[in-house]
Amino acid sequence: MMLRENEVLLLWLPTEPIGEADWPKLRRLLDEAERARADRFHFERDRQVYTAAHALLRGTLSELTGRAPQDWRFEVGEHGKPEAIRRPGEPPLRVNISHTRGLAAVAVTLGREVGVDVEWLERDNAILNIAGRYFAPAECAYLLSRPAAEATDTFFAFWTLKEAYIKAVGKGLSLPLDAFAFTLDPLAVSFVPPIEDDPASWQFQRFRPGPAHVAALGVRQPAEAPLEVTARPAGLDALLALAG
Ligand SMILES: CC(C)(COP(=O)(O)OP(=O)(O)OC[C@H]1O[C@@H](n2cnc3c(N)ncnc32)[C@H](O)[C@@H]1OP(=O)(O)O)[C@@H](O)C(=O)NCCC(=O)NCCS
Repeated sequence: MMLRENEVLLLWLPTEPIGEADWPKLRRLLDEAERARADRFHFERDRQVYTAAHALLRGTLSELTGRAPQDWRFEVGEHGKPEAIRRPGEPPLRVNISHTRGLAAVAVTLGREVGVDVEWLERDNAILNIAGRYFAPAECAYLLSRPAAEATDTFFAFWTLKEAYIKAVGKGLSLPLDAFAFTLDPLAVSFVPPIEDDPASWQFQRFRPGPAHVAALGVRQPAEAPLEVTARPAGLDALLALAG
């Protein structure tokens, strides 16, 4: 597998089809620190989705370079964003992962800042409270203007897009979430101070990996160079094969 210059790879892995015998194999793709962290989760389902996300991340990096999954090391930015440390001769891969109930995802680019967010639609959410607290005024107004039947989808569209942006820039919740706003149709972003950023330097896309999940992807790349997005379910068998 190779990435083309403008290509973004987005892979998702549902945890539901992963069998009992597969988990130890996926765990084998992790490094020591990740295994220890996996062991600290209180709930099995959290351990599993964490393991799936990190196995998918390492497996994907390995398929793109040929380096063993367990060999990858990451450096963590000031606000917690991990970046893969490359060796001389390896492509400048940039990555981001996301996990939610039942689904893990990884996004990879060649050198572009990238953020991905996946969410489980059935998560119990006080939608209007959260929107009122975190969203930009225009996003709240749009959400309130939609029919009730669309509220959940609209809410999670904004939520995943906002997360994709803050995860791409790597600054996490140190960025004020109401200082940038999305419109959904057409899909676009705008910024107000204190965020100094240029909407023309970003491309975003939304995805529906399954009936209960949504995802959003953000990549810092000007629209003049359209992204070639390859978005698909990850091959579980290929990942398991990497574990030997
Ligand atoms: C930490 C944060 C970056 C993402 O959190 P999240 O949505 O709960 O989690 P996700 O599963 O999407 O992403 C987690 C992964 O992102 C990566 N990550 C951690 N900090 C990051 C950062 N500052 N920037 C980008 N990626 C980051 C890590 O790989 C992490 O996985 P790991 O903990 O298994 O190593 C941050 O945005 C956050 O805490 N959000 C809370 C949710 C919220 O209130 N959102 C309001 C939305 S409108």
